[in-house]
Amino acid sequence: MNVVLVGTQWGDEGKGKIIDILSEKADYIVRYQGGNNAGHTVVTGEKEYIFHLMPSGILHKGKICCIGNGVVVDPEILLKEIESIKSAGIKIDGRLKVSTLAHVIMPYHRILDKLRETKRAHKIGTTGRGIGPCYADKISRCGIRMIDLLNPAALREKLKDNLAEKNEVFRRVYRHPGFEFASIYPQYLKYGKVFRSYICDTALLLNSAVTKGREILFEGAQGTYLDIDFGTYPFVTSSSATAGGACIGTGVSPVRIDKVIGVAKAYTTRVGEGPFPTEFDADFGKFMRDKGREFGATTGRPRRCGWFDAVTVRQAIMINGISELAIMKLDILDGLKTVKVCTAYTYKGKRFSGFPYDLEVLENVKPVYKELPGWSESTSGIRDYKDLPLRARSYLSFLKDDLKAKISIVSIGSSRKDTLFIK
Ligand code: IMO
Ligand code: MG
Repeated sequence: MNVVLVGTQWGDEGKGKIIDILSEKADYIVRYQGGNNAGHTVVTGEKEYIFHLMPSGILHKGKICCIGNGVVVDPEILLKEIESIKSAGIKIDGRLKVSTLAHVIMPYHRILDKLRETKRAHKIGTTGRGIGPCYADKISRCGIRMIDLLNPAALREKLKDNLAEKNEVFRRVYRHPGFEFASIYPQYLKYGKVFRSYICDTALLLNSAVTKGREILFEGAQGTYLDIDFGTYPFVTSSSATAGGACIGTGVSPVRIDKVIGVAKAYTTRVGEGPFPTEFDADFGKFMRDKGREFGATTGRPRRCGWFDAVTVRQAIMINGISELAIMKLDILDGLKTVKVCTAYTYKGKRFSGFPYDLEVLENVKPVYKELPGWSESTSGIRDYKDLPLRARSYLSFLKDDLKAKISIVSIGSSRKDTLFIK
């Protein structure tokens, strides 16, 4: 079974944990978009790992982990993650594969990301990792790919071309001194040498694996509402975070994908700017942020928090073709008097339940809430879905009915054992 796992909200849904669990059954785990803007947390028995680039399945012995062509790779970060995994005693050689076609984040991408933010009237609140500028170069057809790092002549020419144009922009538009060929070129050639053994044709690798009946798990980063097309544009990331991105970002055809699993938090969070209809007021927001430890795994920024928004998740289910959902961090709702779910919006007095793509509308809608009784009991340590407090089960059952989707996994804590499977 080849499965795509996607976020249904604004990222940080808990994808890392579910990937880690599903990795057990998969043979290959592949990242297909995004870059080190992602922060996927995996808690094993005793240790917490945060991966930005590395597929979260890397902790499972013997599994092949791929960084697909749709990912943008910052070599400095990749090197750091390889080293930290090695130093944790995990064997990585022969198990990590990086696509020849993946685009490379260059020092000027990182700086440009930050400089562009300073000039924007409406800031996006990017992670500042150079993601947007790197994808922009990919689409502009001037990007540098992993395969170029293995070819000194090609790298020289492409880097020279890029710097000639970019330095002009840096100097004239941003009053920045620009970048030296002589410092970037040898550094990136060195990366090429270090990564040589990992770089390969991952599309070929994955397709022959599928032909042999091996199972692939596609690890989405970010979430549906950060998707470049279906997100709350322009407050989005620069890649296709929805399920379709799995095909483009790996070279595996849609006819070979069997299932899409969506991950949703039992409430909602968002980092960075942009519309967020169910956002809590400041006081309750702070209370829930502390309760849920909602601080970015990548940038450490406080996450904005709000009630579960079924309007957005229903739309995400449609766009991604989700047949099963994992509901995460249910335990964070323990002890609340009531819990709310947004089931529709009103705008200028009119009620509707579809997702509005007009940003002006989305920024001004009022959520229509269904208020449900909370549960005072702690869900901590529960090992069977049936043992959840009755009202917690009612909450999940309400979500299931409203979303018209099966909930197959419920998470009540960060470690592997805090996971309930619903038959
Ligand atoms: P994971 O995979 C949450 C957000 C940023 C910003 C916007 C654009 O951990 O769920 P970018 O640097 O990508 O150009 O920033 O997207 N963002 C994320 N928010 N989780 C993520 O990844 C995110 N990756 C990007 O905060 O608002
Ligand atoms: Mg994150």
